[in-house]
Amino acid sequence: MTKKFYITTPIYYLNALPHIGHAYTTLAADIMARYKKAQGVPVHFLTGTDEHGANIERSAQNANVSPQEWTDNLAQKFKELWAELNINYDDFIRTTEPRHERTVQEVFEVLLKKGDIYKGKYSGKYCMSCEAYIDESELLPNDLCPIHKKPTQFIEEETYFFKLSAYGELLLKFYEANPTFLSPKFRSNEIINFVKSGLKDLSVTRTKVKWGVPVLSDPNHTIYVWFDALVNYISAIGYGKKLGLSEYADYKYNFDEFWPAEVHLLGKEISRFHSVIWPAVLMALGLPLPGKTFAHGWWTIEGEKMSKSRGNFIDPRDITTKYGVDSLRYFLFREVPFGGDGDFSMDSFKKRFNADLANDLGNLLSRTLNMAAKTVVEIPQNYTEKSNLLAKAQETNKTYFEQMDNLAFDKALDSVWFLIGDMNKYIDETKPWMLAKSEPEKAKAILLELIFALKSVVGWISPFMPKTAEEMARRLAVGPIEKYAPLFPRIEAEPKHN
Ligand code: MSP
Repeated sequence: MTKKFYITTPIYYLNALPHIGHAYTTLAADIMARYKKAQGVPVHFLTGTDEHGANIERSAQNANVSPQEWTDNLAQKFKELWAELNINYDDFIRTTEPRHERTVQEVFEVLLKKGDIYKGKYSGKYCMSCEAYIDESELLPNDLCPIHKKPTQFIEEETYFFKLSAYGELLLKFYEANPTFLSPKFRSNEIINFVKSGLKDLSVTRTKVKWGVPVLSDPNHTIYVWFDALVNYISAIGYGKKLGLSEYADYKYNFDEFWPAEVHLLGKEISRFHSVIWPAVLMALGLPLPGKTFAHGWWTIEGEKMSKSRGNFIDPRDITTKYGVDSLRYFLFREVPFGGDGDFSMDSFKKRFNADLANDLGNLLSRTLNMAAKTVVEIPQNYTEKSNLLAKAQETNKTYFEQMDNLAFDKALDSVWFLIGDMNKYIDETKPWMLAKSEPEKAKAILLELIFALKSVVGWISPFMPKTAEEMARRLAVGPIEKYAPLFPRIEAEPKHN
């Protein structure tokens, strides 16, 4: 049995349509999954939707439909977008599926029996948008939620608690022994300090929320949406079967082939859930912890936070219908270091499109193929010539793999574009089109080097721009005889209206 490389995205709340921020995380997972698959690594890429909780109940009510209809419709919208963005996930989990709900119930009962979950009373300030109690020390003036800047409500209820407080020391030890678990590094202190400041037990059931998974042994309570959601990472890969539940006897996956996950990808705002609560739950279950939780930054749009009220929600299709899927996939991961925050503006998108894709990459390919067509280069199967350019390509290869393994997508792409720059310079300097007459053998040799380096470029960019890479590979393989359309036609400036 080969252990699969298991990578996940957060499961997205179904209270609104997917936007570019959701696409960002899912694309990152897709890129990593494609990168690993290309190396022959068996990969399992899971994404899905988070469908329970008061917010979703309310959204459905406002729209006058049942929560199930509401979530069926929205889950479909996410799937459609992922297909359009050429995202190849291996599994899509919805938390309203029986395969998930039953596992959540059982996990809850297991922890109840072990004493890691116990019944008590809770009172505190609750943020409806976070679906979480906010600690007094974190409330903004006037008891506003620090994330949503909205008023919190005082709530008192009977609830079950998860004994999070018992795991602080163990977590700190784990972080220390596994220094890349909290990634990227510059965000890790925030989590470590939070754990050091002392963990409180976590309320994990609600009596007022009906749209949730009922506690098996106490159905007046539904399971807190975050506890429910985090379990998706193990329910989807057959933890129910591992627990011996008869409903899962024929389940399609065997847990041990997947767990532990290599990486959970997430946005920085949900780090604590993934880097503190989830590992504690896993420890309580006696399960190994994932390789890393990677918290990326947030995109603003033209300098502003994306929000419905500002009307600056970007549907990725706004970009892809005009400029193609691959240019968006490229832009998001070249423009901003993965981990940091970034700003999306049409201006910077168009600049990169023209400079990096139309000019650097597109022209390199078409110049090379046009010259090769005139010189009639036959491409040998095994090309073993040594050259400066190919030595540089080998260096690039090394850097590329190192950076990709660290999820430093921008740096990996930087190194590729650096080489592309060198290749364009090489053409400018050696002028193979002139050599073709005076020194045809030399011209052919240069073109062969270029073609072989371009084939490496195809491999490197393929996780980011799968369609482009496919098309480039096709053109490079058939032998340069046809006249091709440009890969990325320049975006011309729109005429200014006075
Ligand atoms: N349902 C929870 C996650 C449960 S995981 C067990 C949730 N869902 S969400 O719909 O709000 O999606 C959150 C994720 O979407 C973020 O963690 C982030 O990955 C992505 N993004 C949403 N808006 C974003 C930006 N503006 N920029 C970048 N990513 C953002 O939280």
